[in-house]
Amino acid sequence: MDLDLTELGIGDGIWEVVATTRSRDGVPNAAPLGLRCREGDLSILVFEPSRTLENILDTGRIGVNILQDPLIFVKSVVGDLDNSYYTDFNGFPVINGAEAWIILEAKLMERGAAYLFTLVPLSARRNFKAAHPVNRGFNAIIEALILATRYSIMDESERGGILRCIEHMEEIVRKCGGDREHEAMAILKGYLHSIQELEDVLQ
Ligand SMILES: Cc1cc2nc3c(=O)[nH]c(=O)nc-3n(C[C@H](O)[C@H](O)[C@H](O)COP(=O)(O)O)c2cc1C
Repeated sequence: MDLDLTELGIGDGIWEVVATTRSRDGVPNAAPLGLRCREGDLSILVFEPSRTLENILDTGRIGVNILQDPLIFVKSVVGDLDNSYYTDFNGFPVINGAEAWIILEAKLMERGAAYLFTLVPLSARRNFKAAHPVNRGFNAIIEALILATRYSIMDESERGGILRCIEHMEEIVRKCGGDREHEAMAILKGYLHSIQELEDVLQ
């Protein structure tokens, strides 16, 4: 199928979604997963052991659920979601109330430390006017920006810690962000350097 990813809020970068899969005998499973997008090509990197991996290898299918609910992200890791969390979309389990669903065929491309699958969309539905997939790059920009605004009011002794956190956020932005996050981080770092230079002059 022709799928306009931008309509689902997906551009280049890694998008944190909840992946639904089902076992050979039909038991649904959900787990957070990073959906990778590069120039419209979708892929996932799945580590073992996981039920998600087993199910994808068994069925060749995955459901991508775009949602923002922190409880669903956490509950899908620490235990099984009970049946009330699932609904059916074109015969495949998806998460009730998600902003959008995509059902995809998963094709195994590489098996190294993790399994790399390319994904081919089979069907999709947007349940709301807009879908907002979680992007760690965007989240990291906000966290880094908060830290940058606090830098000048922090004690000398706390500044090393702040700079290390910002470096960590920069790493996340590099890995998960798209062009806008990369540009935003470059501007943020310029801002931070200008504060540091100003303080050096004032000392
Ligand atoms: C935000 C987030 C993103 C994740 N992305 C991935 C991923 O891309 N690949 C992967 O193998 N595991 C990823 N994980 C870890 C799995 O969700 C986790 O191992 C989960 O417990 C697997 O559950 P399962 O055994 O039910 O499949 C991610 C976890 C979180 C919280």
